[in-house]
Amino acid sequence: MTIQLPGLLDTDAIRKDFPILDRLVHDGKKLVYLDNAATSQKPRQVLDVLAEHYERHNANVHRGVHVLAEEATALYEGARDKIAAFVNAPSRDEVIFTKNASESLNLVANMLAWADEPYRVDHDTEIVITEMEHHSNIVPWQLLAQRSGAKLKWFGLTDDGRLDLSNIEEIITEKTKVVSFVLVSNILGTVNPVEAIVRRAQEVGALVVVDASQAAPHMPLDVQALQADFVAFTGHKMCGPDGIGVLWGRQELLEDLPPFLGGGEMIETVSMHSSTYAPAPHKFEAGTPPIAQAVGLGAAVDYLTSIGMENIARHEHAITEYAIQRLQEVPDLRIIGPTTAEDRGAAVSFTLGDIHPHDVGQVLDEQGIAVRVGHHCARPVCLRYGIPATTRASFYLYSTPAEVDALVEGLEYVRNFFG
Ligand code: ALA
Repeated sequence: MTIQLPGLLDTDAIRKDFPILDRLVHDGKKLVYLDNAATSQKPRQVLDVLAEHYERHNANVHRGVHVLAEEATALYEGARDKIAAFVNAPSRDEVIFTKNASESLNLVANMLAWADEPYRVDHDTEIVITEMEHHSNIVPWQLLAQRSGAKLKWFGLTDDGRLDLSNIEEIITEKTKVVSFVLVSNILGTVNPVEAIVRRAQEVGALVVVDASQAAPHMPLDVQALQADFVAFTGHKMCGPDGIGVLWGRQELLEDLPPFLGGGEMIETVSMHSSTYAPAPHKFEAGTPPIAQAVGLGAAVDYLTSIGMENIARHEHAITEYAIQRLQEVPDLRIIGPTTAEDRGAAVSFTLGDIHPHDVGQVLDEQGIAVRVGHHCARPVCLRYGIPATTRASFYLYSTPAEVDALVEGLEYVRNFFG
């Protein structure tokens, strides 16, 4: 029986765009791909653009006078335009291409390490993060705190997987230079209350950094509405290739802040004594950038836009609501994170009795069901909830209610298997 839920996309049509979803695994089992928070699959529209780039337009960018160099440069810079429009950036020059979201976040931390006043993070200043961050948004700030002498503080979590903002005025203070937090948690699925955090950060003049890695693929992202100063995300989770990330930053900040990596293309002039730098975004893109990857991400953005981010968000909301309801029917299953679909993304983590998540993941895999197990690069969350790891199912625009049913049946099998 095909389950109909309000708001679902036409997944029969969408799935035809993703060749990998037809794969059979483990002796002819249908692949049920529920590891989209780790990486999404890529539609034919992106795969074709990547092939065409290498078959017809491959050259280095900004350097050559020949036809291929001009085509590659136009495609690379065209991708920047597409990404700027996708996140409603006021200017294309605010879009910096990086390798991934981790690099984007490290870039901000290093800009602030070397910045002049009023941005400089040093001893006697504070950095604020949260306990639900991915390691990518913890470790760069720990490094900055260790090297600068700044104090690292964080918001804790409530029992139901949301940020505890009850002490917001003690956490974000006059000493806070930067507040960096995840918009949608990769492990809990929580969508965080941006407005409250931004309002307090602005009161004390702190910069706001948003890790939108699990948001950009799944919902409309408007950097102006967020009122953040920097927004980081990655291409491979949003139907694009790996090896490409984005850092959006407010133009005046990008003008004021120093570069992190030095090299070709980020300069204006170089002598043996000193150098001056190109304007943003090039100031922050040293060396040959990920050209084909940026072009592929541009194609991914075209693809997502053609389906509509509102429609994708609605689809995922319906699937997540159905998944939460069905998973709660499985005896001994405990969802780690919010158990309502409101203010929630499409990653659902859980434990299953005493069965170790690695065993759950392995037995599911034998049935063709791909999930992620472990601490999901967010180990402090596991420590907070007293668990070693979770099993995580994460959905995307091509996920179906039938796949949720397959997961639930798979979990029943796991329970029987382990007695
Ligand atoms: N950050 C990715 C995840 O949550 C890799 O799986």
